[in-house]
Amino acid sequence: MKLSTYNPSNIEEIKQLFTKTFSDSEGQSEGLLIGDLAYDLLTNTDGHDLYSFVASANDLIIGSIILSRLTFEGEVNAFILSPVAIHTSYQGKGIGQKLINFGLNTLKENEVELAFTYGDPIFYSKVGFSIIAEKVVKAPLKLTYPEGWLGQSLVSDEIKPIKGNSFCVEALNKPELW
Ligand SMILES: CC(C)(COP(=O)(O)OP(=O)(O)OC[C@H]1O[C@@H](n2cnc3c(N)ncnc32)[C@H](O)[C@@H]1OP(=O)(O)O)[C@@H](O)C(=O)NCCC(=O)NCCS
Repeated sequence: MKLSTYNPSNIEEIKQLFTKTFSDSEGQSEGLLIGDLAYDLLTNTDGHDLYSFVASANDLIIGSIILSRLTFEGEVNAFILSPVAIHTSYQGKGIGQKLINFGLNTLKENEVELAFTYGDPIFYSKVGFSIIAEKVVKAPLKLTYPEGWLGQSLVSDEIKPIKGNSFCVEALNKPELW
């Protein structure tokens, strides 16, 4: 298994991975939604506002994560991790955690201060995230599951409160994703 930064020539393969993985776990309409989200993020986001990493085995992509910039009213260098998928037949082998740690280390090397995500607190706590109250850091859109709003500092032990609103990139700026 190899971990690497994504190659733009693999965008279609990454889209298929998200579509298939989320169709398997959440049903076809969620699969199509997240496949389109991955494609939109990778094709319509400025390069300075985007990171994506893949896990591959035998030259096939078996996992992918996408991180995009979260902007605040003040100067904060922050990214949000979404979406994340490990191919159904490779789940539960530690690949998701390895790929996320690989991505977060790369962000750290690039002086990113904060990472956020929106998902299962049990899984994401294994890679350093914890629940954040919205009075500490506001999510960019209204959350259906406030307990899924998670974050971690990449430069210190805790996230200090951030005043004002946060803003995600255009591809994530859709109420049905939150
Ligand atoms: C969630 C997911 C990314 C985890 O990746 P993974 O490589 O399977 O996970 P790892 O092997 O690194 O870690 C195992 C832990 O992940 C969690 N986990 C595993 N499969 C999971 C699943 N289908 N849903 C939620 N959590 C899961 C469990 O907490 C597990 O811990 P345990 O072994 O102590 O029970 C992967 O299972 C996946 O792509 N699922 C479908 C799509 C999805 O839910 N994406 C994330 C949206 S928040």
